[in-house]
Amino acid sequence: MLTAVAPDPAHLGAAVDRARTAYDQLSGVTAIWRQDCYALPTESEHFGYRDGVSHPAVEGSGIPGSNQLEVPLKAGEFVLGYRDELGGIQSPQPTVLGRNGSYAVFRKLHQKVAEFRRYLKDNSTGPEDEELIAAKIMGRWRSGAPLALAPQGDEPALGADPHRRNTFLYESDDPAGFTTPGGCHIRRANPRDAAVAGVVRLHRMIRRGAVYGPPLPEGVLEDDGADRGLMFAFIGARPGRQFEFVQSQWMNDGVFFGANNAKDPVTGSHDGSDSFTIPRRPLRLRLAPLPRFVVTRGGEYCFLPSLTALRWLGALHD
Ligand code: HEM
Repeated sequence: MLTAVAPDPAHLGAAVDRARTAYDQLSGVTAIWRQDCYALPTESEHFGYRDGVSHPAVEGSGIPGSNQLEVPLKAGEFVLGYRDELGGIQSPQPTVLGRNGSYAVFRKLHQKVAEFRRYLKDNSTGPEDEELIAAKIMGRWRSGAPLALAPQGDEPALGADPHRRNTFLYESDDPAGFTTPGGCHIRRANPRDAAVAGVVRLHRMIRRGAVYGPPLPEGVLEDDGADRGLMFAFIGARPGRQFEFVQSQWMNDGVFFGANNAKDPVTGSHDGSDSFTIPRRPLRLRLAPLPRFVVTRGGEYCFLPSLTALRWLGALHD
């Protein structure tokens, strides 16, 4: 069971417990595990970057995409029973389960915050450079402003503006990644129009993150032993070619954009042998070998039934 609670959950925790007991009694279902998670007031995750910025546009949803330059994706990419980008319809049987539902993937991702901070410090020449390296690794400044629109320095007002902060592409202005490195987290996770092996639109995902564990106080560079990280949730009708593909081919390999086996600097499963390269003139900058900053602590693949399917499943129980 995944429950979202406020940072100081004392009273809310009790309310969640009561709700859970009531749910258990009514449904006959017993929760065997629970993870409290929450949103930080800064809307950031534990490494300090604003999260929850980029979302795909979905045809027919009536909800505008966050990137006004993205052609909306077919509904079948995310909802079962509708046509997808390849013209197919994903529809598990019986029919009642095959329409208006979806699949979800959860991951509990432990974040080594002190190690991430030390890496940035050790690989930069001072506080300003440290922020630049942090932005090059993510593709966005910590405020959420993308390098693509704010190449010279952070622009917090841009980072806070949902109408502007995600409307950009890569290929025409920055094919070689001099502004937004091809290997940074957001360009790997969604290369947009950049020239890469494959078709980007087949690997988009609806994604939500919520943090768990206490924040590491600002400036602390030593690990305090607390477990903290991100509860990552994916939703899509094709988890194999969406979530799993992105995780294995784009996060944990670099062949798709011509960087051999280089991995995502933030989420890659590093073993200390691989580094992050920042394209630069006249010479590229290669940072020190990357340790693993994110460790998967658990996860689950789930079917998300539609409301009609839930009622049908509920009736089977009677
Ligand atoms: C602890 C691990 C992770 C952290 C700290 C993290 C952090 C972030 C941040 C700060 C952003 C930029 C803000 C935004 O667009 O919402 C982002 C974007 C994104 N991340 Fe992650 N992320 C993590 C793991 C993952 C994983 C495992 C995946 C998928 C396999 C993923 C997929 C994406 C995608 C698709 C985007 C949007 C890219 C775009 O459209 O520009 N992330 N992430």
